[in-house]
Amino acid sequence: MPETAETTEGPAGAEDPGGAADTAGAAAGGATATTATTATTATTGATIELENLTKRYPGSRDAAVDSVNMEIKAGELVVFVGPSGCGKSTTLKMINRLIEPSGGRIRIGGEDVTDMDPVKLRRKVGYAIQSSGLFPHMTVAQNIALVPRMTGWSKARIKARVEEMLDLVGLDPGEFQGRYPRQLSGGQQQRVGVARALAADPPVLLMDEPFGAVDPITRDHLQDELIRLQHELHKTIVFVTHDFDEAIKLGDRIAVLREHSHIAQFDTPEAILTNPADDFVSGFVGAGAALKRLNLSRVRDVEITGCPTVTVDDPLQEIFGKLRSSGTNEILLLDKRGRPYKWLRRGDLMRAKGSLARAGTLVHDTVTRDATLRDALEAVLTDNSGRVPVTGRRGEYTGVVDMETLMNSVHELLEAGRLEAMEHQHELEEARAHQTQFEQEGVDGGEAKA
Ligand SMILES: Nc1ncnc2c1ncn2[C@@H]1O[C@H](COP(=O)(O)OP(=O)(O)OP(=O)(O)O)[C@@H](O)[C@H]1O
Ligand SMILES: [Mg+2]
Repeated sequence: MPETAETTEGPAGAEDPGGAADTAGAAAGGATATTATTATTATTGATIELENLTKRYPGSRDAAVDSVNMEIKAGELVVFVGPSGCGKSTTLKMINRLIEPSGGRIRIGGEDVTDMDPVKLRRKVGYAIQSSGLFPHMTVAQNIALVPRMTGWSKARIKARVEEMLDLVGLDPGEFQGRYPRQLSGGQQQRVGVARALAADPPVLLMDEPFGAVDPITRDHLQDELIRLQHELHKTIVFVTHDFDEAIKLGDRIAVLREHSHIAQFDTPEAILTNPADDFVSGFVGAGAALKRLNLSRVRDVEITGCPTVTVDDPLQEIFGKLRSSGTNEILLLDKRGRPYKWLRRGDLMRAKGSLARAGTLVHDTVTRDATLRDALEAVLTDNSGRVPVTGRRGEYTGVVDMETLMNSVHELLEAGRLEAMEHQHELEEARAHQTQFEQEGVDGGEAKA
C-alpha cells in the first residue's frame, strides 16, 4: 500500500512531513493567533483549477493520471473516490507538487502555481496523510510548531498557535502538547496530523485517506470533527478515500474516478445517489442507495428534544423524586462534567440498594449535532432506551434524539428519493415518446416544435 510506505518513510525522509510542515508559512501574512481558545484563523479557501493535468511515471506505458480537468470552488470539500490504483493519490500530490506533473496546469486562487517554487507552494497547501506521518522524536507541540518555527514566528505566537490548534481538534493542550506520538492513540495522532496541516492557516488542505488506519468508531468521530472544523474554517479541502459512505458524509461534491483518474461523475452526493452516471458509478454507490441518503442529513437538521436529567452529585432523595415525578420511563444520569453516563429506570435504584454506581445501564453511544442520521439511527438501534443523547464539543449533554423523530426522517427521505426517481423516469419516458412521435411523423429532431 502506497500510504503505508509513505508513512513509514515520512518521518525519516524529508518529503512528507516537509510538505505538511511547509504549509505553515501561509500564516506569515495571514492570521495572528492571539489567544489559545478563540479560533482566529482568517484565511479561508481558495479555488483550485486543474487543466489537462497529466502524470506519466518513468518507465510506465500508460499515464497514471491522464488529462484531468476539474474546478474546485473556494471553501468546497471535494472527495476523490475510486478503486485502488486509479490515480487518486497521484492527482492529489500534484496539487502541492509532491509529485511533479508531466503536463497540464494547476491554478490555486487564480494563480498559476505549476512552475512556482514548490516550497512556497506548500505554504498555501496543508497536507495530512494516513497514520498522520508525525515525527516520532518530536513532541506533539514540536510537530505542530514545525513550520511556524521555520517561518520565523515568535515563540509566544507559536505557543499560542499550538494551543489553539490542539483546542481546535479537540485535544486538551495541557495534557497533550508534551507527549510524543507513540504516547497517543491512532485517532489522537490523526488529530495532531490535522492540527499540523492547519497550523499555518493554508487556504487549501489536501487529505489522503487520513482516517484509513483507525477503527470505525474513531473514524466516525474524526469525520464529525472534520465537518465541524470545516464549518468554522471554510478551507478548500480535497479528500481522498476508498469508502463511498465516507465520501457521501463529507463531500460537498464527489468526484468518482476510474483508471487514469478519468472522471466518471463529479457532482453532489444527492445527485450521484439519485442519478448515477453509468454502471461504474452505480457499482461504486453500491446497494442501499436509498438508505445511504441518511448520510446526507445530520442530527442538527432534526428535532432535538430534552429528557429529564440528574447528575451524580445530586442528593439521592432528589434523584428518587425525579424518577417518580417524570412522565418518562427513564431519566439520564450525567457525570461530574455533565456528560451522559447512565440511563436510570424506576426501580433501578431500589434494586441497587441506593448505589448510583451499581444502578442503571451505561449509555452506549452518543452523537454530536454534526453526526449523520445514519450514525444516530445506529446508535439508537444499539441502545435499548430508544434514543441517543446529543453532546456538545466537550462531550456534555445537550439533548436527545429519539427513534420516532428518526423514523419520520427516514420516511421523508425515502419518499423524496422515490419522487425524484419517478420524476427522472417520467422525463426519460417523455423524451422517448417525443422521439417516437417525430420518427412516426417523419419530422427530424432538429425541427421539433414544442
Ligand atoms: N512512484 C511511482 N512510480 C511508478 N508508478 C507509480 C508510482 N506511484 C504510483 N504509481 C502507479 O500509478 C497509478 C496510480 O497510483 P496512485 O497511488 O495514484 O493510486 P491511488 O488511486 O491513490 O490508489 P490507492 O487507492 O491504492 O491508494 C498506479 O497504477 C500506481 O501503480
Ligand atoms: Mg492512494
